[in-house]
This record gives sequence, C-alpha cells and structure tokens, in this order.
Amino acid sequence: MSPSIRDIQQKKKKSEKISVLTAYDFISAKICDEAGIDIALVGDSAGMVMIGYPNTISVTMEEMMVFCQSVVNGSKKSLIVADMPFGSYQFDLTLAVTNAIKLIKLGCHAVKIEGGIEVVPLIQRLTEYGIPVMGHIGLKPQTTILWEGYKVQGKTCDSASALYNQAIELEKAGAFSLVLELVTKEVSEEITRSLAIPTIGIGSGPGCDGQVLVYHDLLGLFNNFKPKFVKRYMESFSLNVDAVKKYKSEINNGTFPGEEHSFSMSVEELMKFTKYLSVLKK
Ligand code: KIV
Repeated sequence: MSPSIRDIQQKKKKSEKISVLTAYDFISAKICDEAGIDIALVGDSAGMVMIGYPNTISVTMEEMMVFCQSVVNGSKKSLIVADMPFGSYQFDLTLAVTNAIKLIKLGCHAVKIEGGIEVVPLIQRLTEYGIPVMGHIGLKPQTTILWEGYKVQGKTCDSASALYNQAIELEKAGAFSLVLELVTKEVSEEITRSLAIPTIGIGSGPGCDGQVLVYHDLLGLFNNFKPKFVKRYMESFSLNVDAVKKYKSEINNGTFPGEEHSFSMSVEELMKFTKYLSVLKK
C-alpha cells in the first residue's frame, strides 16, 4: 500500500529521510516500488527525458496524463505526485482545479505546482477541495530559465529572504511538502528548520528532509548533460548501447535467435506438411 500524505509528513517528525524519484512509465514506477521509494514523482522533466524537448515548457496536460496513467499502472507502494505542466494552472483558477482533478482521477495522490506567492490562491483552493499539493520553489524550470537560465538560487540575502518568505507562505497556504530546487544549502537548511512540512531537495544540499533526482540522471540514461548535483549510480546509457550492439552483431553472425528462442512442429505435423508441399509443388 502507498504511504499517505500524513505518513510522509510523520517522517519529518521522526527525523526519517524521504526518498523521492521521478517515474514516467510502468517500468520506472515498478522499479521505484521494488526499491521502496517513498514518493514517485511524475515530473514534467518527462518532456526532456522521455520526449526529447529541450526544456519542460512544451509539456502538455495530455502528455502528462499518459505519463501519470503509466505510473499509476506500475506503482502499488509509492505515493504518486503528478507535476502540473506549464500552462495548466496559471491562467484561470477553475481550469487549474479541473486539470488537477484530471490527474487525481487517474490515480495520482497529489499534484506539484511550481511557484511562489502567485500560486498561493491555487494551493488554498486545491487543499480546500482536498487535493494535496507539493510546492516547488528555487529554480522553477518552467519559468526561471526564461529569465536567467539554470542558476543556483539563494546566493544573495535578497534572493534568500524571498525564498524564505515564499516557503512560509506556501506552507500557510496548505502545501503538504515543498521541493527546493537548486537552492544554496544554507537557505534550504534554514527553510527546512522553519517549516513543519517536509522539504524535498534537488541540488539543495543534504539539509532537506528528503531528496529527489530524475530517474534517467540517477541511472545514467540521460547523457545530454550532467548537472553538478546529479549522482549517477550506474552508466545505463553505455550499458544499453553495448547490449543493443551485441544484439545487432548476433543477428549479423546468426547466433541470435538460438535453439532456445525457437519453436518446433511435432515430427508428425512436419511430415504432413512436407507431404502437403510435395503435392502442391508437383
Ligand atoms: O520535473 C521534475 O522532475 C521535477 C523535479 C526535478 C523536482 O520537478
């Protein structure tokens, strides 16, 4: 059974770390489950690692719904959080609630929304309706990159205090947890100390209550670039290429498929078939 929102929040109270990993399909969700990951995050990073978009801006609700459905189908033990894609929540509160409900109806347990003070009314509305929301501040890939690219946040006192105030407001609005992306470790430690809800860091140092990585980064499957905060636990891209090369060469040299991969007719049926062919070819 997947943990509840309260179970996740209890972990902070018990000083237990929270493990979060992105998942986008049936198999990655099953792997998260098997590994005992607390939260499977259907991140809109799917747009980059699954579709090949240069960033997350192009991701649509329709695409997110396919990823979410695949994760729901594969996951039994992780809490599933669905990212709300760019354009699905900014313009109209009613449309935003409708889109969040679509993700929850698929079987996701919560939604994640990027933004600071500007998303407070939406978080309030969703939590009033009983939909748990994970906030996301610091580097917000859907918009920060339009202004300044991928830059560490919270390096100056102004930036640190803005992040601190946003975190307090998002907790007050009802967010059940908060992603801190690419935030200096001093600021994320202070935010983590000051909030009752758990913080989940990515590139924000060890002081957060939990950590999240992108599945394809952790496995070394995405090799376009490697940010400093990523730790690759294996080099899957090259391992996959090696396996596929071996497959190709075994096709070429005739060693695949082998006897063990083939199916046979019974001797009796083969004799009948041979006879049939000899009559046919006369
Ligand atoms: O889309 C995503 O994968 C995310 C995480 C990196 C936090 O938002």
